[in-house]
Amino acid sequence: MKNTSQDLTEQEITAFFNAYDPLIHQDPYPFYTKMLQDHPAYFLKERNTWIISKHEHVQFILKSPMFIREQSRLEAEPVVMDPPRWRNINELVQDWMLFRDPPTHTRLRSHVAYAFTPKTLEQSKPRIRSIAENLAADMLKETNPEVIHDFAFPLPVMVIADMLGVPQEDRNIFKRWSNSLARLLDVTFLSEEQLDEGDLAAAEIRDYFRQQVRERQKNPKEDIISEIIHVENKEHLLSEEELINNCILLLVAGHETTVNLIGNGMKLFIEHPESYKLLHHQPELIPSAVEEILRYESPVQFTNRTAGEDILLGDTLIRRGQEVFVSLGAANRDPAVFSDPHHFDITRKKNRHLSFAAGPHFCIGAPLARLEAITAFQVLLKQYPALRFSGPTPIWRNQILFRGLEALHVKM
Ligand code: HEM
Repeated sequence: MKNTSQDLTEQEITAFFNAYDPLIHQDPYPFYTKMLQDHPAYFLKERNTWIISKHEHVQFILKSPMFIREQSRLEAEPVVMDPPRWRNINELVQDWMLFRDPPTHTRLRSHVAYAFTPKTLEQSKPRIRSIAENLAADMLKETNPEVIHDFAFPLPVMVIADMLGVPQEDRNIFKRWSNSLARLLDVTFLSEEQLDEGDLAAAEIRDYFRQQVRERQKNPKEDIISEIIHVENKEHLLSEEELINNCILLLVAGHETTVNLIGNGMKLFIEHPESYKLLHHQPELIPSAVEEILRYESPVQFTNRTAGEDILLGDTLIRRGQEVFVSLGAANRDPAVFSDPHHFDITRKKNRHLSFAAGPHFCIGAPLARLEAITAFQVLLKQYPALRFSGPTPIWRNQILFRGLEALHVKM
């Protein structure tokens, strides 16, 4: 950011949220520091939206039932979210637990949580390791490996496809669908063409999963979809479409996020070789290093809610119906909670970052994401004992909600 010594102007804040200024997105932290110091609650008039950056307030909003997801609860008439042109996207996302409030949220989430247990994770461990080892070994054969494309991206997609029981031969088309759909989560910049592409992917993937679900209704297998159907058969709480759409959410939600966690971690280890070296000698620090990567470069930087009533947040009055953008990335650098917040410290204790959010929507995939990242770094540390950048300086993707690299070329 340019004028860090001066106060932020409305134009700068607007530019950030409309992504006019890609430079800010390369390093948003001076911007966040200013927000935390001078505007912990900033009202962006043109969007009728608050931007909230203090850890205490972000956590409060995420946990409070007064801040809601279903805007339709505030309207007398149901809200039509998008034109009928994107009907498939609408039908898909309206069932996602992510965008629902209780009681629907509780019903959808509790069902999926049955299938996403510590036991399921334990069973997946050997598979995750072997996928990570194979990808890392393939990278070693290349002269100029690129960590995002060759490792960080395929690992979570292959793992979740495996857990969902998607046949091996369908993996490529599955990757294409999940790519188009993952983009939908960063709604800020989508062009009409991207929405068309997302809509087509939504139609195709729903047909595909419908077929997978029906097959498993007849012949259950050893996978998450069969597990969810098994619970459903006993409790009859989900419609078939809800089941299908939330299986698709599992694929998409873990996609743009875990790739960023692994990619951001690799970049940080190259920039902090002393930390990478320390992990060699003390691999038991890898879990705490993963927490610090999550805090320092949060893969999800923002999420949003709507005020369900007039609410006083500190001395700021948020009006019913106003949108609230909470900055997880800024909250994770709040000096009121983290000592020396801009220091990357893999031994940091009591790391209360908000990268998986908080409250009822706390990331259901957090244990899986942590396991994938820990395994990834264990494998990479073994096969790549020393790391350096090779090729161009890594560039951050120009996104607001997510934080991840376009590409990361490495040398051993
Ligand atoms: C929710 C972050 C990986 C599935 C969330 C939320 C965040 C988040 C911030 C809450 C959003 C909100 O409250 O508005 C992350 C990060 C990940 C990650 C940083 C990786 C580093 C995964 C994985 C899966 C997953 C691997 C599944 C395979 C979900 C689901 C929700 C969610 C289903 C919605 C939960 C609910 O609404 O109750 N995630 N996630 N996530 N995540 Fe993750």
